[in-house]
Amino acid sequence: MDKHLCSQFFFLGLLLILPTTLFPIVSASHFTTLKPNESAKEISHENEVVALLKWKASLDNKSQSLLSSWATTTNTNAISNPSSNNWFGIGCNKAGRVAYLNLTSCDIRGTLHDLNFSSLNHLVSLNLYNNSLHGTIPSNIDYVPQQIGLMRELVTLDLGFNSITRMIPRTIFGNLSDLHFLAFPKNEIWGHIPSSIGNLSKLRVLYLYSNRLSGPIPEEIGMLRFIRDFELHENHLTGHIPTSIGNLSNLSILYLRVNNLSGRIPEGIGMLNSLYDLDLGVNNLEGDIPSSIGNLEQLTYLALYENNLTGNISISLKNCTNLYRIDLRGNKFSENISETFGIYPNLDYIDLSDNRFHGELDATWGLCRGLTGFKISNNYISGNILDELGGASQLQVLDLSSNQLMGIIPRTFDNFTELLELRLNDNRLLGDIPLIIGKLSKLLRLNLGRNNLSGLILTQIGDYKELVDLNLSQNALDGNIPFQIGQINSLETLDLSYNILVGELPQQLRELKSFRVMKISHNEISGSIPSSFSQCLSLILVNISYNQLEGPLPSSSAFQKAPFDALRNNKGLCGDVAGLKACPQVNRSNKKGDTRLIILPMLGAIIFLIIALLLISLAYRRSSRNELRNHQSGDLFAVWSFDGKMVYEEIIKATEDFNPNHCNGVGGNGSVFKAKMPNGQLVAVKKLHTPETIGLSNLIEGFRNEIRVLTEIRHRNIVKLYGFCSHSLHSFLVYEFLEGGSLLDMLSNDERLWSSSGSQAKFLKLYSSNWTAFAGTYGYAAPELAYSMEANEKCDVHSFGVLALEVLMGKHPSDFISYILSTSSSSMSKTLDHKMLKDVLDKRISSPSLEVAEQVLLVAKLAISCVHPTPQFRPTMQQVSVRLSRKRVASKRLSFVTISELVAS
Ligand SMILES: *[C@@H]1O[C@H](CO)[C@@H](O)[C@H](O)[C@H]1NC(C)=O
Ligand SMILES: *[C@@H]1O[C@H](CO)[C@@H](O)[C@H](O)[C@H]1NC(C)=O
Ligand SMILES: *[C@@H]1O[C@H](CO)[C@@H](O)[C@H](O)[C@H]1NC(C)=O
Ligand SMILES: *[C@@H]1O[C@H](CO)[C@@H](O)[C@H](O)[C@H]1NC(C)=O
Ligand SMILES: *[C@@H]1O[C@H](CO)[C@@H](O)[C@H](O)[C@H]1NC(C)=O
Ligand SMILES: *[C@@H]1O[C@H](CO)[C@@H](O)[C@H](O)[C@H]1NC(C)=O
Ligand SMILES: *[C@@H]1O[C@H](CO)[C@@H](O)[C@H](O)[C@H]1NC(C)=O
Ligand SMILES: *[C@@H]1O[C@H](CO)[C@@H](O)[C@H](O)[C@H]1NC(C)=O
Repeated sequence: MDKHLCSQFFFLGLLLILPTTLFPIVSASHFTTLKPNESAKEISHENEVVALLKWKASLDNKSQSLLSSWATTTNTNAISNPSSNNWFGIGCNKAGRVAYLNLTSCDIRGTLHDLNFSSLNHLVSLNLYNNSLHGTIPSNIDYVPQQIGLMRELVTLDLGFNSITRMIPRTIFGNLSDLHFLAFPKNEIWGHIPSSIGNLSKLRVLYLYSNRLSGPIPEEIGMLRFIRDFELHENHLTGHIPTSIGNLSNLSILYLRVNNLSGRIPEGIGMLNSLYDLDLGVNNLEGDIPSSIGNLEQLTYLALYENNLTGNISISLKNCTNLYRIDLRGNKFSENISETFGIYPNLDYIDLSDNRFHGELDATWGLCRGLTGFKISNNYISGNILDELGGASQLQVLDLSSNQLMGIIPRTFDNFTELLELRLNDNRLLGDIPLIIGKLSKLLRLNLGRNNLSGLILTQIGDYKELVDLNLSQNALDGNIPFQIGQINSLETLDLSYNILVGELPQQLRELKSFRVMKISHNEISGSIPSSFSQCLSLILVNISYNQLEGPLPSSSAFQKAPFDALRNNKGLCGDVAGLKACPQVNRSNKKGDTRLIILPMLGAIIFLIIALLLISLAYRRSSRNELRNHQSGDLFAVWSFDGKMVYEEIIKATEDFNPNHCNGVGGNGSVFKAKMPNGQLVAVKKLHTPETIGLSNLIEGFRNEIRVLTEIRHRNIVKLYGFCSHSLHSFLVYEFLEGGSLLDMLSNDERLWSSSGSQAKFLKLYSSNWTAFAGTYGYAAPELAYSMEANEKCDVHSFGVLALEVLMGKHPSDFISYILSTSSSSMSKTLDHKMLKDVLDKRISSPSLEVAEQVLLVAKLAISCVHPTPQFRPTMQQVSVRLSRKRVASKRLSFVTISELVAS
């Protein structure tokens, strides 16, 4: 700090006094004469020294020591040789008079009461910003500013950020006509703004914000022709915004937020060509936004939030292409958003929440590459969320909640790697929670509640390492609660209520250190609550009602103190809580949940058929040696286990060495023959085309066991497998013979199709499936089998999906599936957008009834999810079964459902 009283101080220049850099030429004209060298003269007026020292003496000890340089050089009180003084914070003009007093942020404690401003009447800049100057005794409150009014040369007056409690000092406004910069922000100044403010005709900056000013803003502000920065926010101002405001052609910043201003926004506001910050938020403004606002091409910040503004005439902000921040939340705007807003390359933040905007989110929002906040919650926005929104890749907050959005969550959301908050709740979104999960590693809050989302909660949810709030409630999510949720250490609230989740509550949840709220009511969660939940002391609120839970309640207080409504309607919860039965004293067994596999007749059959097909084919591929197995007992085939060779020969004989006359059909892998055994029993023999290339020789024991199980299964919907035979000449499988043709026949024959719905299972002939997938085409087998020969349950799921689609479409769905596979997942939903489900369904069947349509929709959706190219994303057969067994309200009429919606599921 330069302590020389009247030398280099001026190097600092007045400009630096301005707390803002926005007004680069505020006082240049006034100070051009005050060159550093010229001003290097000593303080010469005794009264100034006396006044300053007197004031110093009135300050507290610490302030005095800070101002230790404020001292005379002699032992007397006289100011004999002040030239050696280096007074901290003081600057002089060329006449040697004190012109600057700058003690910004010096923690000066005291009052202005003892500063004799009459002696400092050459002061040009008084800057006491951010100290602890306060009003003391009430009788003196008005004293100080009266004298300030005498400093007629004053250009800068900054008493901001003190604790000055007094009425607004009127003398300032009356007399200080040279003032460029007037600042009293953050004090406790009250009273009306005097109309004499119009006298401050050179004023550039007026900061009176954060005080207790009341009354109207005088019309005379229209006389402040040079004003650039007008900040009266956070007061108690009332009345209208003066129409004269339109005269302030240099105005750049206008802050009037948080007052009680009423009436309309004056039309003249559109004439403020230089305006770039406009904040009128939190007032009682009403009526329309003047359409002239569209002229404000410099506007970067437009904030009109929390008023009573309407939009009866269409506003257009399309011309305001420099907009950086827009905040219109909490009004009654009812425009179509696509007509109101244009393209804003610089847009950082827009909040349109709590209005009545309608229309669709068009693709241009994705061109706002720098957008970090987009909130449009609680409006009437409709249509789909477009993939293009993914272009706004800097988004940190995306809130589209409480609208009428439809369709799926775009896969392009995985572009939002900066996202902290995603709220899509309370819309009509369909499909699953996409794989954006895991990519958005910074996400803190995810709310997808109150939609029509379905499918599983993916295990990747555990990758949201920062997640604090997770709300997936009121959807149709099924499957288990993934234990990976228990790996989100930051998780505080979890709401999964009103879904159709099954399985047990994962133990891992109790490891969450900050876990406070757990709502899982209205699901099908079963089993007992892990007793380790007792250690989860952070929990304060639980709702586990309407589930299938049983067993004792954990001992932590969240459970023990929960109201009965949060626990009711479970299967068998017990504990020392009103409404629950007491737990038995005996050692409690940790009984597993009763997860019954409910098999619908037709689809159940398909499931098992496919498993059988797969296993058999696998067996076929690996076999090379003769083998005939039969574990059936009680009929002819029981003998086979003793003499496979005899049965082999009898079959050769019955089919006359596989004479084509006995052939019932040809499939991809084999031909099917009908054979009448010597005792009259009919069997179906599927003779495989290429017996030697892949044999049964390296058949593993586990597979043999599976075959054994299959031969032992008795189910009305499963075609009986009697046994198999592998020989160097022929390999074949022997099944129970069913009347009726093959599935292929059935589906390609109009008359027989669906005619015998009471015996659905019978037409699903195992032996004639057109099984060609292993050759690499899209048949029934999963695509990954083409490159990895590893068959697993997810391959079966795929096969199930293909077959189910075939039933729905009335033909093999290979085109449909290869189309899905060949299209990348990101563009898939778009390219399939307009293809309707009804167009791919079997046209020979008349439109299903409403109830059946619901099931068709469900099966189609499931089938499509089963043929997902990535095995991990196919559901398990158990999940398929659970979903089939559950009745769901169709969210949409069948005829309106597009493929893309289903693909997303
Ligand atoms: C006033 O003092 C503060 C703190 O020492 C300094 O940052 C600022 O530049 C000074 N202003 C002027 C106009 O000298
Ligand atoms: C200002 O003063 C310095 C030294 O005090 C001197 O070198 C310089 O020439 C002076 N400048 C003017 C414009 O007088
Ligand atoms: C100022 O300091 C002196 C000694 O350092 C002390 O006695 C006195 O109480 C202090 N006064 C105030 C107001 O802090
Ligand atoms: C006020 O001054 C103090 C030091 O006394 C400083 O820490 C603080 O940041 C300043 N506040 C403002 C708003 O300038
Ligand atoms: C203030 O200063 C003026 C002029 O120097 C002087 O006439 C007046 O007496 C002073 N007032 C006080 C209270 O010291
Ligand atoms: C908004 O305007 C309506 C009528 O136009 C009025 O009833 C309501 O009180 C106003 N609300 C506010 C917060 O000013
Ligand atoms: C937008 O700008 C064009 C040309 O600059 C002008 O003609 C038009 O009136 C402006 N629109 C609005 C709504 O201000
Ligand atoms: C994702 O963000 C990148 C970089 O911002 C952008 O180039 C790309 O187009 C975005 N993707 C989509 C689908 O919009």
